[in-house]
Amino acid sequence: MTSTHTCSLIPPLVLFSFLWSSALCFQPLFSLVGDSSTHLEITQRALLYKSAEVCRALASAEGRDFSLTIDDSLTSSEVQRACSTSGSTLLSTVMFQTAITNIYLSNAAIDVALALDERVHFDDEEFQGGRDVITAGVSAVKASVKLENFVAGRLNLGFVCHTLQDFYSHSNWVELGNKAPYSTLIRPDQQLENLAGSSVPTCRNCIDGDCTDNILPDVLQQGLLTSGYFNLFSSAKPAGKCSHGGAFDKTSLRDPVGGISKDDPGSPHGALHHQAAALAVNATVELLEDIRLAVGDKNFLRLMGLSQSSVLCFVIDTTGSMRDDIAEAKRVSFSIIDSKRGTQEEPSAYILVPFNDPGFGPLLITTDADVFKANINRLTASGGGDIPELCLSGLQLALAAAPPSSEIFVFTDAPAKDAHLKGAITALIESSKSVVTFMLTDVTASRRRRREAQGGTLRVMSQLDAQLYRELAQASGGQAIEVTKSDLTLATSVIEDSSAPAVVTLIQAIRKPGKPDTFSFQVDGSMRNLTAYITGAASLTFNLTSSSGTSQGSSQPSGPLGTFSTVGNLRRFSLHTDNQTGLWEISVNSNDPYSLKVTGQSSVNFIFNLMEVHEGGHRGYSLKEGRPLTGGNASLLVTVTGSDAAKLTEVTLVEGSGSRQVNGSIRALGNSNYLVTFPNVPEGEFSVRLRGEESASTPSRSTSAPGTFQRQANTQIKTSSISVSVQANATSVEPGSTISVPFTVSSTADGVVNASATGTYSVRVSNDQGYTSTAPATVTLGDGGTANGTVELMVPGTAASGSAVTLTVEAAKDADVNYAVLRLALAAKVTDVSGPVCQMISISDACPSSSALCSSAQWQFSAQLTDGANGTGIDSVSVRQGNGTLNTSKQVGAAGENVTMVTFSASCCAQTVELVAVDQAGNVGTCRGQAKIEQPTTLAPPPGITTASAVQTTSTGWRPLTMSSFLWIGVAVSLLSL
Ligand SMILES: *[C@@H]1O[C@H](CO)[C@@H](O)[C@H](O)[C@H]1NC(C)=O
Ligand SMILES: *[C@@H]1O[C@H](CO)[C@@H](O)[C@H](O)[C@H]1NC(C)=O
Ligand SMILES: *[C@@H]1O[C@H](CO)[C@@H](O)[C@H](O)[C@H]1NC(C)=O
Repeated sequence: MTSTHTCSLIPPLVLFSFLWSSALCFQPLFSLVGDSSTHLEITQRALLYKSAEVCRALASAEGRDFSLTIDDSLTSSEVQRACSTSGSTLLSTVMFQTAITNIYLSNAAIDVALALDERVHFDDEEFQGGRDVITAGVSAVKASVKLENFVAGRLNLGFVCHTLQDFYSHSNWVELGNKAPYSTLIRPDQQLENLAGSSVPTCRNCIDGDCTDNILPDVLQQGLLTSGYFNLFSSAKPAGKCSHGGAFDKTSLRDPVGGISKDDPGSPHGALHHQAAALAVNATVELLEDIRLAVGDKNFLRLMGLSQSSVLCFVIDTTGSMRDDIAEAKRVSFSIIDSKRGTQEEPSAYILVPFNDPGFGPLLITTDADVFKANINRLTASGGGDIPELCLSGLQLALAAAPPSSEIFVFTDAPAKDAHLKGAITALIESSKSVVTFMLTDVTASRRRRREAQGGTLRVMSQLDAQLYRELAQASGGQAIEVTKSDLTLATSVIEDSSAPAVVTLIQAIRKPGKPDTFSFQVDGSMRNLTAYITGAASLTFNLTSSSGTSQGSSQPSGPLGTFSTVGNLRRFSLHTDNQTGLWEISVNSNDPYSLKVTGQSSVNFIFNLMEVHEGGHRGYSLKEGRPLTGGNASLLVTVTGSDAAKLTEVTLVEGSGSRQVNGSIRALGNSNYLVTFPNVPEGEFSVRLRGEESASTPSRSTSAPGTFQRQANTQIKTSSISVSVQANATSVEPGSTISVPFTVSSTADGVVNASATGTYSVRVSNDQGYTSTAPATVTLGDGGTANGTVELMVPGTAASGSAVTLTVEAAKDADVNYAVLRLALAAKVTDVSGPVCQMISISDACPSSSALCSSAQWQFSAQLTDGANGTGIDSVSVRQGNGTLNTSKQVGAAGENVTMVTFSASCCAQTVELVAVDQAGNVGTCRGQAKIEQPTTLAPPPGITTASAVQTTSTGWRPLTMSSFLWIGVAVSLLSL
């Protein structure tokens, strides 16, 4: 099993021709060969470790307890719980886990997009190139956070982690005996030193496949840094150089044969694999610390997704007839804001997108509830009226801006004019897993009559028009609620329900056409506030039976199982679950279409991602964004959240509108991750339902252990017979440039390319930023049943560095649609690589040597900060350690440079200070000071002398000191620029 190593995925072109996988790096996601550390584990461990540290620092600053032991066995539920300030036992880990998962999936994506770029893997002694990749990546992460674009930040962070981690596997850093990370890799202002020159031999032949001692003794003695050469196609490498090694590395077959990589225990230097992985974890922690210093603790935790609350997101039609609807949107959002302000349930952001005719937008995204309130207050209903509105364009903006798994509410009373966006919207829903609920008013009522231009017939939003909204709601797991304007107030309770913490879905189903059916669902011990929603015709009846056999029918609005109310097409049933865990049943009797959804609140939930599997000598996996192939196999990476003791027992794809099911086979991967494989998924729309067990004996959760639990995903998975893939050889693009993205379309049968297929496919290309792109409108299958095309995407120079663009390439034939998604980070060239420089000016007012007297004395530290000639300028200065008052003022220095003067005064009971200065580019400089202590003798300190470069300040009460007096008083200052 160890002669080759599943590691990176080779781009499809190469893949289909002759190879399945290669050994380029730590294995990306999970190891199917023995005990090895993957990029997933390395990244997750570092993210959990640093998140916990930051939470501990915040807790200590706010005087809260923090009892979690921070080590490398942390789980996301433990960290979430420890970081929570609410004390509530009901905590969702979904957003935190989604952030972590997105970071490691983006880490792994490097092996698909950039498998052969030696810089991103530190192959071929590309140290400067690799360091440049890291510098650009770190800068992009910081820029993303500054824009509050955390989704782009996670994308960038995953990329940069990959390169940083590969250094430890591919270089001889570990062999050189280093026990700490190579910090210079994240310090672009420092020189890379002791690199083995291009003509310096570094390796000798491995003997009989044993590579233990293949690095030349001279290299080790002189501490020269080298890395292995790697090539899939050619054995050429400079004379005497080490190779990466492994069966796919042609260079390792030439002298010096063998290699030095440590990707897994079976690699040429596999004995050092665990050491390299441990260093990679610590290097990642160090990188995260740099980011944390630059962005601050609160923003760092937002980047990590460690926020309990979801966003509040409204998309609102503002045409003339919408006055009542706007008033109601205002009422319900204000009620949510006012009742949750200051609590952990306060929405983490607010998103508002108005649409009308002929326009839509602008998008408002803010964390400030008052800004949202002001904007929603400013909405007025006007104009439009004669033509359908740009509803889907508005929704598209919201879907692209909202964090994954958000719930979006759309208010409208008109058909969509931009129905052609349906495919792109569905793709966005599937990849973001956001839920869209429509509040449709007066669907068939006469209030909003419109005369069509010709014919003069009356026109209203018909059932047919509403169908588009219903289908989008269904694809996302949301609802299409149809009410009269006067009843809207009663229907918006679903918005308040969804803003409750830790809402989970137990079951959802649709019957279209309607037919009587019975649905069962498992209620577990952790479930609170169980609620059933049924939408359907007025004639619909139902009968609910609890696990203990109690029943309540639709003729009983209030009864033994709870109470329900009916408004428009919606019935909302609030259930009592006391002591009624077990299997419940609901039978619905209707021959008209209907939908059923049962939700509750529980900490235990799950997330899933579709994975692409590459069969071969070994198997590799990567994220698949797009639909699984009809009749083919599908693989899911499922992560159970909110419980470390839960065990998955069953994962099923259940048909959204029928009763077909496909059972998956489950493989536990550790870290609450499971790889689930479904054979021969038939054509249709499915959602993921899982069952699991968590026993009541688990100590940490004895009070609300779920026992047997059931959860269902909101988003549907739809199959397609069309295969679409994009082959970008970049993960980021510079503003002001154009990127070519080749793509391939083919027709498949039973999950494999049908080489004899013919036909023409329509192609639609869109991106979430509205950038200009060109692409063929159609492609026609050629040799081998595939068609190729290229998208040219023009990124304007005004695009913000740190943001991202999501490109969707859609291919369709008849009613079948599939798509591929490419996410590109936008990163400008980094010009400022050095952090602010701190120069201390003085420390004044010695503290008493007896700590008993400290509270009556003060000390003061002052320094000047500059960002150098090529610097972007100081953006912020904050106290990282110390308890006192910081004052800053901007001045112009002798050479015309900007200087930030800082003074810090503190009580003598807190005698150290560490200040962090961040420049506009996110480079960090640190300044440390320590109070001087009064000497027991009466010797006076030397007279104060202004230092040569000191800038006069208006501050008084402290004496500038010379360098020599610094030593005399034992001041510790360190100038660090990370
Ligand atoms: C990583 O850092 C931790 C905490 O600082 C330390 O205990 C551990 O020894 C380090 N591991 C390696 C391999 O250096
Ligand atoms: C949900 O349940 C909790 C108790 O478990 C209760 O305090 C709360 O009021 C309920 N919320 C709603 C909206 O019913
Ligand atoms: C509801 O179902 C229960 C159990 O199947 C049955 O006993 C009861 O008669 C039903 N009620 C109605 C109104 O159909």
